[in-house]
Amino acid sequence: MILLDGKKVSTELKNTIAKDVSKMIADGKPVPHLTAVLVGKDGASETYVNHKEKDCHEVGFRSTVLRFPDTIDQERLLDEIRRINADSDVSGLIVQLPLPKHISEQKVIETISPDKDVDGFHPLNAGKMLLGLPSFVSATPAGILELLKYYGVETSGKNCAVLGRSNIVGRPMANLLSQKSYPGDCTVTICHSRTKNLKDVCLQADILIAALGSPEFVGADMIKHGAVVVDVGITRVPAATKSGFRLLGDVKFDEVAAKASYITPVPGGVGPMTRVALMKNTLAAAQKIYSR
Ligand code: GUN
Repeated sequence: MILLDGKKVSTELKNTIAKDVSKMIADGKPVPHLTAVLVGKDGASETYVNHKEKDCHEVGFRSTVLRFPDTIDQERLLDEIRRINADSDVSGLIVQLPLPKHISEQKVIETISPDKDVDGFHPLNAGKMLLGLPSFVSATPAGILELLKYYGVETSGKNCAVLGRSNIVGRPMANLLSQKSYPGDCTVTICHSRTKNLKDVCLQADILIAALGSPEFVGADMIKHGAVVVDVGITRVPAATKSGFRLLGDVKFDEVAAKASYITPVPGGVGPMTRVALMKNTLAAAQKIYSR
């Protein structure tokens, strides 16, 4: 079994991005600048945004975090997004999800300029991705493809099961793996809460992507011998630790690792790859804006 070490790979990719930033500065170009908008006080979202800020500093980007109370009204938030869209100093903009219930996530996403939408959530980017056209691709699926590529995992003609149909992970992941490319050329099945014979579908999978958010849902009895297993799940469960929780993936790591050919750990697998994919998108956004 080979560990798909997202921490190691993301460190290498961050070094490459840092070199590109140094070159941009040497060429007299502005440094990429990511602005993250955070509404409310969700613990996981706070952590994610703090990580993104740290990553920006590591690769040499400017980083701004705009925090708003969860009482902010939708129009005020949309005005803020329009202001950032118009700010030529900002190359990438993300609004951390989830948002409070009184705010339409879709309206927020559609207000972000597609040129700055480094999350790849805007329908224009999602649509282009679906058609195989150049676009910002949602960071988690983009990071997973980078990881499979780094390890030279064979994908052509493989059966792939994607567990979960979210707009952020499952749907784009399934589409990308079905595209005529590498990594890709897979025969993909998207599974979800209504899927019948889920276990049978999983047992047919040469590549299994678990993105359900159900801690330890996938056991060894669902895995084909030699399968490639990618665990996107990262759920906080209460535990007697300093933070009061521990992180669990969607996969029962020890028993599944014994059957898998490749597997991602949690943490240290998909998470760091997602983060570096966002940095890559932000670099690409800046390069496009500043080459005009
Ligand atoms: N919430 C969970 N994942 C993400 C992500 O990739 N981007 C944003 N903006 N919010 C998220």
